[in-house]
Amino acid sequence: MTRLEFLKSLDLSGAALFSVLATCTLESCSSKGSDTPTPNNPSGGSSTAGFTGTATGNNIDFTIDLTNSANSSLASVGGARVFGDVIVARTGANTFVAVSKACTHQGTTVEYRHAQGHFFCPNHGSIFGLNGSVIRDPATQPLKAFSTTLNGNNLRVFA
Ligand code: FES
Repeated sequence: MTRLEFLKSLDLSGAALFSVLATCTLESCSSKGSDTPTPNNPSGGSSTAGFTGTATGNNIDFTIDLTNSANSSLASVGGARVFGDVIVARTGANTFVAVSKACTHQGTTVEYRHAQGHFFCPNHGSIFGLNGSVIRDPATQPLKAFSTTLNGNNLRVFA
């Protein structure tokens, strides 16, 4: 249920509903919010814009078009974006890393922290290296690391 659907379900009067909606910013009420990645804290959600292939399950193999505006968060070093089950981070001008996005402790999506050179779980503070290895608990199992190959503006991520 979207926020708008929820508000409608409250059966507020027209004026009350307008008042509530007027306090919403476009971003906070947008149904596209989960598709708008931000640097270092991507939330690619279910969007399939800007890549082709399989980004979920056991046969991860997809190609990212770095020129696609959906991938603008990967245009600069330090940026990252989630694709399905995978978080991809740009670690350098021509270098990328890709690991499974779900923290092995309780599944929270990890964040890429470029300055620290690691992935961080905001839930309980686990830290993972760029190769997915556990640096700080409570997680005890590594993130799955994927291979990356850059060919022009196309980045392939695969198991
Ligand atoms: S879910 Fe990541 S540290 Fe608990």
